[in-house]
Amino acid sequence: MEIINDQEAIKRLKVARRIAVLTGAGISVESGIPPFRGEEGLWTKLSPLELASFEAFYTNPARVSEWYQHRRNIIEKSSPNPGHLAIKKLEEIVPDFKLITQNVDGLHQRAGSTDVIELHGNIMENYCVCCNQHYSTSEFDEVFRHNSNHIPHCYCGGLIRPNVVWFGEPIPAENYEKAYHAAIQSEVFITVGTSAQVTPAADLPRYAKRNNSYLIEINPNHTAISDIVDLNLRGTSGTILPMFVKDYQEILSAD
Ligand code: OAD
Repeated sequence: MEIINDQEAIKRLKVARRIAVLTGAGISVESGIPPFRGEEGLWTKLSPLELASFEAFYTNPARVSEWYQHRRNIIEKSSPNPGHLAIKKLEEIVPDFKLITQNVDGLHQRAGSTDVIELHGNIMENYCVCCNQHYSTSEFDEVFRHNSNHIPHCYCGGLIRPNVVWFGEPIPAENYEKAYHAAIQSEVFITVGTSAQVTPAADLPRYAKRNNSYLIEINPNHTAISDIVDLNLRGTSGTILPMFVKDYQEILSAD
């Protein structure tokens, strides 16, 4: 075993059929995408309420749209890292696997993961706040580029916004319901690269624990849920997750 030395963890992983994973911004750090909190975090340098709320968008649509275009450019140039690929591998070997993400970057899907439960939307998609017309990244680029004031308008006249969940907005009910069920039905629940400070996503590991799931945290730092998890695996997800998958395969094949 490379990193799983705990006997209880080995026992629980061996028999678990249902494993759920919740990822946060930390899993994409090794792909060059900055997280929200901590020294290099976006919210350490910028005000979330000036960039990630409907009020901010309505007050200054050009500024908010430019910031989202900037983030899209970074994401488009990035690639999934070994952490994303290890999660795709888990999907292949766990009998009933659920992946929940708070990330809007689509890197899990680009790594090959299917059925990703996106709690906070997807930054690559946009829609009109008036007529709900959806715009792909390239369609949005067209509108944005041909508009010198950088205020993206739909043909109906409405403003086009990114398909992400902003502060003060609810998670789409269908997605949260899927995530909630995945959490309470899991036998092992793994959090990866999340500070677990934003609810309701951060409630999911607590619901899982209340339903006797075994909690594992993969994170280089202490988080808001570190004290309730059963197994802390300290390190970056790009390093820890591939080792975790290797150990898990060994656990499954052992007599
Ligand atoms: P945060 O930025 O709050 O937390 C990132 C976590 O990743 C921290 O706990 C870091 O210790 C950890 N981390 C850093 N580098 C890592 C690495 N290489 N490998 C693994 N972990 C690493 O991000 P989230 O918890 O995802 O919401 O933030 C939750 C939500 O807050 C986001 O979805 C976003 C934000 O406001 C919305 O946009 C609605």
